[in-house]
Amino acid sequence: MSSFALRRLAVLGSTGSIGRSTLDVARFAGKRMQVVALSAHRNISLLAEQIREFHPKIVVVTYDSKNLRDFGELHQTAKEFKTKVLFGAESLTQIVTREDVDIVVSAIVGSAGLKSALDALTVGKTVALANKESLVVGGELVVDTAKKYGGKILPIDSEHSAVWQCLRAKTNQITENEQNAEFVQKIILTASGGPFRNFSSEQLKHVTIADALAHPTWQMGKKISIDSATLINKALEIIEARWFFGILPPKIAVVIHPQSVVHSMVEFADGSVMAQLSPPDMRLPIQWAIDYPQRFSCPSKKNNWAENFSLEFFPPDLERFPALRLGLEVAEQGGTAGAVLNAVNEVAVDAFLQEQLPFHKITTVCQTILNHHKHERRPTLEQLQAADHWAREETKTWLSR
Ligand SMILES: NC(=O)c1ccc[n+]([C@@H]2O[C@H](COP(=O)([O-])OP(=O)(O)OC[C@H]3O[C@@H](n4cnc5c(N)ncnc54)[C@H](OP(=O)(O)O)[C@@H]3O)[C@@H](O)[C@H]2O)c1
Repeated sequence: MSSFALRRLAVLGSTGSIGRSTLDVARFAGKRMQVVALSAHRNISLLAEQIREFHPKIVVVTYDSKNLRDFGELHQTAKEFKTKVLFGAESLTQIVTREDVDIVVSAIVGSAGLKSALDALTVGKTVALANKESLVVGGELVVDTAKKYGGKILPIDSEHSAVWQCLRAKTNQITENEQNAEFVQKIILTASGGPFRNFSSEQLKHVTIADALAHPTWQMGKKISIDSATLINKALEIIEARWFFGILPPKIAVVIHPQSVVHSMVEFADGSVMAQLSPPDMRLPIQWAIDYPQRFSCPSKKNNWAENFSLEFFPPDLERFPALRLGLEVAEQGGTAGAVLNAVNEVAVDAFLQEQLPFHKITTVCQTILNHHKHERRPTLEQLQAADHWAREETKTWLSR
């Protein structure tokens, strides 16, 4: 193997879909990557398995330890492999700030990922960010924290990874956002359209949980699968793109691309369009973020150029999927709007998964609560947390009516 720079990783949310794919990448990379720290929420039997395979120095269990089973197995395994075990979300600070961690992979789901991402950036770490909610909720704060302390945020979301790779045609630096605004005509995020791409508004009223979880092209965790079905995931990605690349709507557009092979595109000022293509497999953007700027062989699926295949693109239907309009509006507003949208959506998705809210009302409740929130333009972390709390309570009240 050619020479390489060792990557020492803390993987937050190692038991989830992105966390497991990250460990696949680390397994394949062998000596190039060292797994120093892991975190799980409730799945401690999988965490114990991961300790047996990767021998991390330290792990954190974020869920309230009193309510966990399989405790004995975790402690026994940790003792055998000399792995330290900490409990509670606040313990994440200890792993993301360790000197022997180069890259924090943030693969926690939901706004629970924000605090640890900020902690890592505050000590100048590189954060490979799958947890889009960190930027949706705290965009400006996260970007400013990275700038202030010399931390880096690298995208794992496949669309943003694609945009980042395309932008390299212009510059080597992801952080040169001022330049992006000058040279970029449009960022075009692709969306598969989800399982209900061709559903009428009437059909959308009757979808079941199983229908909504069955994504046509991606295997993902439950929350993001529902978000992909409502297209709120794409709304969150519009907001994420706004903060990652310093580009505002109308320079951010969405196009429906059912094959999920073109992960996104950038149209430059001269009209030239760059795209990034690969089969839908998160291991590629994960590895690119961890290995950047090195490119090595990756365990992800590859295009078969000997087979016929075609790529289609359609404009999105904002009437059937109003979530996209919400995403554009919130990206423009900034401030506390992202925190509110995200919190309402998290509660609404939970309610849908518990059969307390019909699918098509998820976006309605997001719009309703956003319409009467008191907007704060440059919020602190405390103000973001307060907006998140307010939105959750408002949504619960709305649901109980
Ligand atoms: N899956 C994808 O293909 C994909 C693609 C792009 C971006 N993303 C983004 O990546 C993030 C993770 O998505 P995912 O699909 O991997 O989710 P997932 O499969 O549901 O996994 C979530 C992970 O976060 C942990 N977790 C859950 N609640 C937590 C809390 N309150 N505090 C700390 N940890 C918590 C879970 O632990 P336990 O399992 O131990 O309970 C698990 O390790 C999301 O922000 C998502 O939008 C995902």
